[in-house]
Amino acid sequence: MRFLAFQKTVLLGRVHASMNDERSIDIIHLLHVLTREFVTVYEEARLSCASALEQPGFVRLYRMNHQDHVRLLEKGIAETGGVWADFGSGAGAFTLALADLIGPTGSIYSVDKDRGALKEQEKAIHSNFPGTTVHYINADFTQRLALPALDGVVMANSLHFLRQKDAMLQLVRSYLKPGGRLLVVEYNADRGNMWVPYPFSYGTWEELARKNGFSHTRLLATVPSRFFSEIYSAISM
Ligand SMILES: C[S@@+](CC[C@H](N)C(=O)[O-])C[C@H]1O[C@@H](n2cnc3c(N)ncnc32)[C@H](O)[C@@H]1O
Repeated sequence: MRFLAFQKTVLLGRVHASMNDERSIDIIHLLHVLTREFVTVYEEARLSCASALEQPGFVRLYRMNHQDHVRLLEKGIAETGGVWADFGSGAGAFTLALADLIGPTGSIYSVDKDRGALKEQEKAIHSNFPGTTVHYINADFTQRLALPALDGVVMANSLHFLRQKDAMLQLVRSYLKPGGRLLVVEYNADRGNMWVPYPFSYGTWEELARKNGFSHTRLLATVPSRFFSEIYSAISM
């Protein structure tokens, strides 16, 4: 609003300088009216947005919690135990959910190129799921890693960093035991931004997974998201 007032002052100064008194009075009046109208419309829009934002469950305010992370993965994890990897695990939101779901008899290879995030994750795992074995690997997941045969892989909000996903998907498939599962968590969108450069909607994922030799792809769950409209999880085998 301050910017608007400034623009108006500049504009009025220019009008005064370039016109005779009569015409400038008309134009000044018109500018006052337009500005007042604009301020009213702007205020109404601002107030209606503010009241919408206060409604419980308004999607843009939705912040996911541990239960949401668990809900996104749980239908893809039928039993406890097993050897899993989480590629691009970050601070561990989905590693914690995985640890919760597979329990202390399972083990997780948690891979991220961000050492600081892995340290943070290690603390959270230690406080919340001290019984689950987690191996922290500070590495680029696009490079082949020395991993045992895996029962499952989680890629949550990490595949969208790759423009070309085929090589990564082939690599993931090579780590999986026969019948092993890939759980993908992604924004349900095909157009990205600077933070989520190459997202893919569930429909696009079905095709991408099929093209890379995965079968039985199915949607597991969705939750509202503060960015884009929703986050989905999907399983492929
Ligand atoms: C948006 S965060 C998601 C973290 C976590 N999976 C979650 O959903 O909360 C993406 C993570 O992927 C990691 N990442 C991206 N590209 C990577 C790569 N090529 N190798 C390893 N980690 C990568 C980033 O460092 C970051 O921690």
